[in-house]
Amino acid sequence: MKDKLIIFDTTLRDGEQSPGASMTQDEKIRIAKALERMRVDVIEAGFAAASNGDFAAVRAVAEAVRESTVCSLARANAGDINKAAEAIQPAPRRRIHTFIATSPIHMEKKLRMAPEDVVNAAVGAVKLARSFTDDVEFSCEDAGRSEPDFLCRIIEAAIDAGASTINIPDTVGYTLPHAYGELIRSLIERIPNADKAVFSVHCHNDLGLAVANSLSAALAGARQIECTINGLGERAGNAALEEIVMAIRTRADAFPFDTGIDTTQIVPTSRLVSGITGFPVQPNKAIVGANAFAHESGIHQDGVLKHRQTYEIMRAEDVGWSANKLVLGKHSGRAAFRARLEELGYSFKSDVEFNEAFQRFKDLADKKHEIFDEDLQALVSETQHARDHERVQLLELEATSKTGTRPVAHVVLSVDGESCDVTAPGDGPVDAAFAAIEKIVQTGAQLLLFSVNNITTGTDSQGEVTVRLSKDGRVVNGQGADTDIVIASAKAYVNAVNRLGTLPAERAHPQFANAMGIP
Ligand code: KIV
Ligand code: ZN
Repeated sequence: MKDKLIIFDTTLRDGEQSPGASMTQDEKIRIAKALERMRVDVIEAGFAAASNGDFAAVRAVAEAVRESTVCSLARANAGDINKAAEAIQPAPRRRIHTFIATSPIHMEKKLRMAPEDVVNAAVGAVKLARSFTDDVEFSCEDAGRSEPDFLCRIIEAAIDAGASTINIPDTVGYTLPHAYGELIRSLIERIPNADKAVFSVHCHNDLGLAVANSLSAALAGARQIECTINGLGERAGNAALEEIVMAIRTRADAFPFDTGIDTTQIVPTSRLVSGITGFPVQPNKAIVGANAFAHESGIHQDGVLKHRQTYEIMRAEDVGWSANKLVLGKHSGRAAFRARLEELGYSFKSDVEFNEAFQRFKDLADKKHEIFDEDLQALVSETQHARDHERVQLLELEATSKTGTRPVAHVVLSVDGESCDVTAPGDGPVDAAFAAIEKIVQTGAQLLLFSVNNITTGTDSQGEVTVRLSKDGRVVNGQGADTDIVIASAKAYVNAVNRLGTLPAERAHPQFANAMGIP
């Protein structure tokens, strides 16, 4: 029997800390359910003390999830821990994850605390958390740059205080695989009560080493890896769940542990997270990128046709890419549409939502003969966006561009049920459409990103557009898909505008200034 490696997913917490990746409560529940279907062991649902909205979202996840453990992050102070405990209370399996920084630079410059006081805060936090649940995780923030002797001291004290998981984060993505593995090995060897806790790792990807560092640490004795779907996360992101899980499965010869993950849920969950957050997956991304299993060159195709394993180390079906990608067309009915979506892991909250999605499918099938899984996934994300953030809706768009003349867009929006229409010029049809929308909604937001990807191949493919807007320190992503990329762009802009209106204004970041939560 191999050891079990615990998969701790932090898409909803650390993933959400990426600028623009904020999610609504409903979106978090949808992702949490997908993670549970995937059989993730622990779901970090958020940082309950960040705002009332964050508290409510963690609580809603705790109400929705039955199998996986639901966890909330908490700084090492009583206020955060009480909030975390209350938020996770409805979950059958509950964890409080408390942390404090342990590196000299963080203790001196950020916390302004002496090492002795940091140890006391950690012990107090773990003891308080234990009064609510037996499952308490303690993290030494910036462990990768902490002094090993100090780590030994604080970890021993945290285990004595009742922590059953000890997390060693490489918060700034600075460590190298061999050194990080060595750090984990030496901590486990040196700390006298190390056998009373599971050692965990949490790696950021600033040098592109998050997955390599995590696997090296697991080979050195860590038995929990913290990761996110698509590697989402602060700055360059966290270790990607799909890469960790598939490396362990594909190279079972090299790893003395298994995960309990249902790998066929990987691609649907990746699409769901990308659709909700508006962070597209790059085509050459391992496991979940559109090209990850595409054998383009003639030589490769010949090899694959003769014997699959000549070039394929994994099967696309095993990670949830459907073998037959062409799925539906103009004449497909409601039953076929529902069945295919169920196979992709989607369910509808009501008949109204299903009917809306089906109508969108029919509209799309009028424009595009062949509908692929990717089209269906974009369509469902759009239906769910529309239901979640309905204040502004795109009703009509007409954009004209002609050589030698300035492009113009005429846009009709519904704002709180009232229809408004304007015309605006722009440097191109997309620019004109954005200018027209902005004339109506007047957000004054700054456009940080505009990107277009084709969802499938061919000139009749839908374009999937991501728009990132920033206003008053808040950053949001919007997404839209259509066979007409000017319309897709306008949908994405409207989606971002709606999201600007739904995010909580005041929200504490767990790791930045005021990290102890002291007013
Ligand atoms: O990167 C980090 O150190 C974290 C901790 C809060 C676990 O996200
Ligand atoms: Zn982190």
